[in-house]
Amino acid sequence: MLHKSFHIVTFGCQMNANDSRWLALSLEARGFARAEAVEAQVVVINTCSVREKPEQKVIAALNDVRRLTRANPDVLVVVAGCVAQQLGEALFSAGDQVRLLIGSDGLAHAPEAIERLLAEPELKLALLDFVDSCEERAPVSGASGPVAQVNIMQGCDNFCAYCIVPFTRGRQKSRPSSAVLEECRARLEEGAREICLLGQNVNAYGRDKHGDGTSFAGLLARVAALPGLARLRYVTPHPKDMSSEDVAAFGTLACLCPRLHLPVQSGSDAVLTRMGRKYGRRDFFNLVERLRKARPDIALGTDIIVGFPGESEKDFEDTLDMIKTCEFVSSFSFCYSDRPGARAALFPDKTAPAVSRERLARLQVMQDALTQRLLEERVGRKTDILIEGRSRRQNSGETSWQGRDPYGVPVHLVLSGDTDYTGKMAPVLITQAKKHTLMAQQAGEIW
Ligand code: 5AD
Ligand code: SF4
Repeated sequence: MLHKSFHIVTFGCQMNANDSRWLALSLEARGFARAEAVEAQVVVINTCSVREKPEQKVIAALNDVRRLTRANPDVLVVVAGCVAQQLGEALFSAGDQVRLLIGSDGLAHAPEAIERLLAEPELKLALLDFVDSCEERAPVSGASGPVAQVNIMQGCDNFCAYCIVPFTRGRQKSRPSSAVLEECRARLEEGAREICLLGQNVNAYGRDKHGDGTSFAGLLARVAALPGLARLRYVTPHPKDMSSEDVAAFGTLACLCPRLHLPVQSGSDAVLTRMGRKYGRRDFFNLVERLRKARPDIALGTDIIVGFPGESEKDFEDTLDMIKTCEFVSSFSFCYSDRPGARAALFPDKTAPAVSRERLARLQVMQDALTQRLLEERVGRKTDILIEGRSRRQNSGETSWQGRDPYGVPVHLVLSGDTDYTGKMAPVLITQAKKHTLMAQQAGEIW
């Protein structure tokens, strides 16, 4: 085992990935080094329970712990994230090596807790309390990749009937705009060219008691004005919270990418009402229309839950119709499953799993065809890609690079020579559409 070394395994959303990055850099600042799981002194499992059944997640996480501790019996295992928040101290029974549990608000104190546990081998700690203050984590620095994810808020107040997030991540807490801007500025100085603002409900930013009077649109405008920023994105907005200023920003902020992930969840008014989404089918169509007016080429993505309790075949067909009408370029779709504590777990009229699975399959076939058509329409067009890294080495001294176009689609580009193009912007011509990606060739000077 390597003294003062750590390994982090991350599941779930971009928020978790961002939390893991912060923890890794904080541990490095305290003299820890990254290591493989089998030889690390500290292994952190950063868990997620938003989609899969929590029990399955836990079984998988516990299996991971068992596998790890067999090869590395003296390891200190840390369980962080939503599953830790949800299951709490029951996780200590997973093995003697599990000695630290970190909930949503506990991460800021994780580095010092880890040091304390290494010094006191008999101790176990659970940092699971929600705190009312919006504690700022100590800033960390490290080379930034081309895309920097910056958290602007924690938690959510919406309590959609199916969702566990308000229970695992707690109530909405906006970060002060000065802290967000400071972090964005630092990441740009470290080399980032794109910023993605993160939160469970980003466009409700500022509308909680921690807000400092800055609206989401106001924050966007201030981030967009930072020197060095080429692209700005955000995820995830709630349709009911899209203000007219948020919509207008797609027409006025040049660096705001024409791509929006806008979870609709269902196309049926009855289902949306039972989900507690607080918008109807018409409202959503109107919003899409206003977005397209502000930015005609905007590409929309969405999340969909199939088989919500009481969903009829007609409700489901309304969802299919919604996908077609809105022309989502991609969708993440899931079969509904109960989350203990969320209201819908108690709803009657559960959809039979076989029916949900069959509907999901139908939806995905339709979405794949739509995605394919929309990607094929892009062949022959010019665009810019921000290169994020190598995708694979070709034989003849050429390298295939991967980046994203402004619409968020992964694009592959083959370039010759040994230059590292990571973080560069490449003008390209789209030459071919694959299943979820595009192929391109260079069409101008890389900068
Ligand atoms: N069942 C199925 N899908 C869910 N999601 C959230 N909760 C559930 C659930 N109980 C999906 C939603 C959300 C995405 C992150 O996960 O579509 O937007
Ligand atoms: Fe969950 Fe609804 Fe909040 Fe999204 S808006 S995190 S689905 S409760």
